Amino acid sequence: MDIQNNSTVPSDLNPHTLPQHVAVIMDGNGRWARERGLPRIAGHRQGARTVKELLRCCQDWGIPALTVYAFSTENWQRPLAEVEFLMKLFEKVLCWERLDMQRAGVKISFIGDLAILPTPLQIEINRAITETEANQAVHLTIAINYGSRAELVTAFRSLADQVQHGLLKPEEIDEPTIERSLYTANMPHPDLLIRTSGELRLSNYLLWQLAYAELYFTPTLWPDFDRAAFHQALQHYQHRDRRYGKLSTALSA
Ligand code: FPP
Repeated sequence: MDIQNNSTVPSDLNPHTLPQHVAVIMDGNGRWARERGLPRIAGHRQGARTVKELLRCCQDWGIPALTVYAFSTENWQRPLAEVEFLMKLFEKVLCWERLDMQRAGVKISFIGDLAILPTPLQIEINRAITETEANQAVHLTIAINYGSRAELVTAFRSLADQVQHGLLKPEEIDEPTIERSLYTANMPHPDLLIRTSGELRLSNYLLWQLAYAELYFTPTLWPDFDRAAFHQALQHYQHRDRRYGKLSTALSA
């Protein structure tokens, strides 16, 4: 097993069957901080470093897309100071990391209702999208003020509006039409969902898009989810039999 040589796929992983899109629920920042007697915000700061490390793994191992759940529509219910810290953290990370992302060929995009985010954060978001849109090495999608049910409501309203204006017939609404109305239009669906910190829930994350994803839950807290932990998740993924409702190759022979 070779995980020291960072730029190649570890020898126990099959480079041809790696997930093409990994979605992550980054959970456990607060507990990580509490275990160390630190304020919760220290966990979020460390969590942002973990995102960078995972992105590096994706680049090194040829995983083309990573989508992270940074802030849910429900997270507004946290104490105001924590919400304000997170908004500032997103803004600073986008500002500080932009040059590195550019150099590394990372394309950054966002899903969620961005219109109500603080203006300085919206400015950084727009800058990150514009400056990285031609990059092709890895596609990093950041979910901010994202909720899957809200995404579906927005999509269905837009389709209803098109029907009302005679631009679409009800019978023309099918899965591809709905796909095209989601924030994730034109993105491949995740093959693998990772949730850290031992919670076994989807928490309103990519409910449509995860229909056939393999789910991987680990007790590791997000700030501790390093290269070795990601490697382990990929090992588990490669041992799954992805059947999409069909019989496995062994059973159908
Ligand atoms: C959940 O852990 C974590 C969050 C709600 C925030 C995640 C944000 C980051 C990791 C920063 C990422 C930055 C960018 C730019 C992508 P929790 O606070 O619910 O942890 P707990 O369950 O232990 O309390």
